Amino acid sequence: MTGHDVGVDLLIPDPALVLLVGASGAGKSTFARAHFRPTEIMSTDDLRAMLSDDANNQDASGEAFHVLALLLNGRLRRRLLTVVDATNLRPQSRRRSLAVARRYGIPAVAIAFDMSPEVYDAHNLRRPDRQVDPEVVSVQVSRMAAALEALPTEGYAARYVLHRPAAAGEFRIVRR
Ligand code: CTP
Ligand code: MG
Repeated sequence: MTGHDVGVDLLIPDPALVLLVGASGAGKSTFARAHFRPTEIMSTDDLRAMLSDDANNQDASGEAFHVLALLLNGRLRRRLLTVVDATNLRPQSRRRSLAVARRYGIPAVAIAFDMSPEVYDAHNLRRPDRQVDPEVVSVQVSRMAAALEALPTEGYAARYVLHRPAAAGEFRIVRR
């Protein structure tokens, strides 16, 4: 028992554009799978894998972001809740997605995963899907500090920052 017998509610407008923000190993995809339907989750890793058979293939990133933009446009135009499962650590990545939401008057929500360095290391060591270079993660962790400062200025309808891996049932997404 963790002391969290009752889940904490994360209120999210519906529809919304939900940006997950965090370094590799922070637990974004695990969280997304636990709380959203598969068709609601747009993962740039999955798109890179679809384009190149390799989720890590940075050569496929440009095309992956093009496809992401198409998907966001199609879904937000239809007023469907959509989660962007990507690191979203660069301001321009967030800006591109936010611009699509704004085009259709859809509010945006940020869920940031601000873990301690040991958490990234532990998670990345035991992940079954792919190995992530620790140097890449450390650059991402430094970008995370900047992202946390920038998020309050980017106009989200709600912002949540998680500081440790969520236990099962610890959070509930409540759609409004
Ligand atoms: N993990 C865990 N408990 C959590 C979240 C994650 O144990 N609450 C572990 C799992 O072993 C998982 C690994 O951390 O395989 C990485 O989590 P993942 O959700 O895949 O991290 P992402 O943030 O999605 O990483 P990336 O940006 O590289 O996709
Ligand atoms: Mg992931």
